[in-house]
Amino acid sequence: MKRDKWSSQAGFLMAAIGSAVGLGNIWRFSYIAYENGGGAFLVPYFVALLTAGIPLMILEYGLGHKKHGSSALSFAKVGRKYEWLGWWMPIFVMFGIMFYYSVIIGWCVNYAIYSVNLKWGANTEEFFLKSFLGLSSHVGEMGGLRLNILCSTAFIWGVMWLICYRKISHGIERACKIFMPLLFVLTLILIIWGCTLDGAAEGLKWYLKPDWSKIADWKVWVAAYGQIFFTLSLGFGIMITYASYLPKKSDLVQNAIITCVTNCLYSFLAGFAVFSVLGYMAQQKGVPINEVVKSGPTLAFVVYPEAISRLPFLNNVFGLIFFITLVIAGLSSGISIIEAVTSAFIDKFELERKKTVNIICLAGFLGSIVFTAQNGLYLLDIVDHFLNQYGLVLAGLLECIIIGWILKAKVLREHVNAVSKRKINRIWDIFIKYITPAVLLSILINELKNEFTKPYGGYGLKFLLFIGVGWVVVTLIIAVVVSISPWNPEKLKYDHRPEEDDLMV
Ligand code: ALA
Repeated sequence: MKRDKWSSQAGFLMAAIGSAVGLGNIWRFSYIAYENGGGAFLVPYFVALLTAGIPLMILEYGLGHKKHGSSALSFAKVGRKYEWLGWWMPIFVMFGIMFYYSVIIGWCVNYAIYSVNLKWGANTEEFFLKSFLGLSSHVGEMGGLRLNILCSTAFIWGVMWLICYRKISHGIERACKIFMPLLFVLTLILIIWGCTLDGAAEGLKWYLKPDWSKIADWKVWVAAYGQIFFTLSLGFGIMITYASYLPKKSDLVQNAIITCVTNCLYSFLAGFAVFSVLGYMAQQKGVPINEVVKSGPTLAFVVYPEAISRLPFLNNVFGLIFFITLVIAGLSSGISIIEAVTSAFIDKFELERKKTVNIICLAGFLGSIVFTAQNGLYLLDIVDHFLNQYGLVLAGLLECIIIGWILKAKVLREHVNAVSKRKINRIWDIFIKYITPAVLLSILINELKNEFTKPYGGYGLKFLLFIGVGWVVVTLIIAVVVSISPWNPEKLKYDHRPEEDDLMV
């Protein structure tokens, strides 16, 4: 079976940036920056980008391109005993992060519809928690399924299926070529609109005011590295897979830099849209900004709707643009997650693309149903915490060790330099072998220590162990089991199979 490929470098870049720019860029970055020193946070963020983001992006692009395979096939080609990691990454992301990520995109669809008549009313918190989620009193009380959320989640899976079942250049590439420019235009409208509101300057002052004393705090650095990982979709298996569809001569270094810089710049600018509106709302309510600013779902579904209702004109248009922006950002990340796991199954079991996507999307939708129940918000909070804090960081750490020490960083560097116009030198090896793993390991140890001293979110250890740790362990077992089954030996013989070389440009 011939391997799919992108029809153009621009298409690849749009898809990779689409994967990186997601819900996290809009509701997570600006809050984390604000909490961790405002303008001063840009220093650790930039350091994290340089020392972990870009080196790991080059690693993932280099690995997928050199081995010409999904994460599973690429790691299997490095050594059969490391294959499980190539499975674990897309499996815990697809059957973990993606289960709730799709539900949150579904919420955005619901809220885009609600924007038309500002259905959330005056008390947006009560509307979100009670009327919309029907939130149960604690995580152990499942309650019923929320029909409106179930429908929007099914719709989102339907759209993602429609995009993913076509071959890569017709599905994901075409979709991202539409999604990305649209996303940037809509975000620009939000920024300009937000910045013209009364009180916007005050909001931006809070967002960017540098508090240099925070830089000395270890937690600020952990936050910067954590954010870089999630936002660049590193440790998901996606970038390895995407790079495997590139032609032989591709400037991997330049592509890695463009992907990372565009994503981080987008986050920074999206912060202007968020904080200008928060500044306006704080002024309207006559309270300081710190009383209105929130992160995550609360920002998008409680604070922002209230701000939208208070806008002087065309509130519903603003609301519609905001939630559609979130839907597009979420969709372009969602399809990349589906692709990473689809590609792994196609590589190993030589399945047909359409059938594989049918099964994966159906399984994804069925798994998401759990998160549409009345305790869904608690569940997603726990699963998100464990998979992001431990799953991704651990995956990144293991990637550095296996590539840096087993395959040898030098071997991958030589491959990257052979195909790229821009070259990397031995400093990259030092990052991959020593600096990045050391930083990731210390984050991991530090987080684990916190876990025992202060169980996350006050949920109670039993739920955390059962749901959070359980999820990490179960996905790990599945990954190991799948990796044990045998390959068609032909598949592992060459990095590039000779019959595919004529496809390269
Ligand atoms: N990188 C994606 C995001 O930021 C997953 O949401």
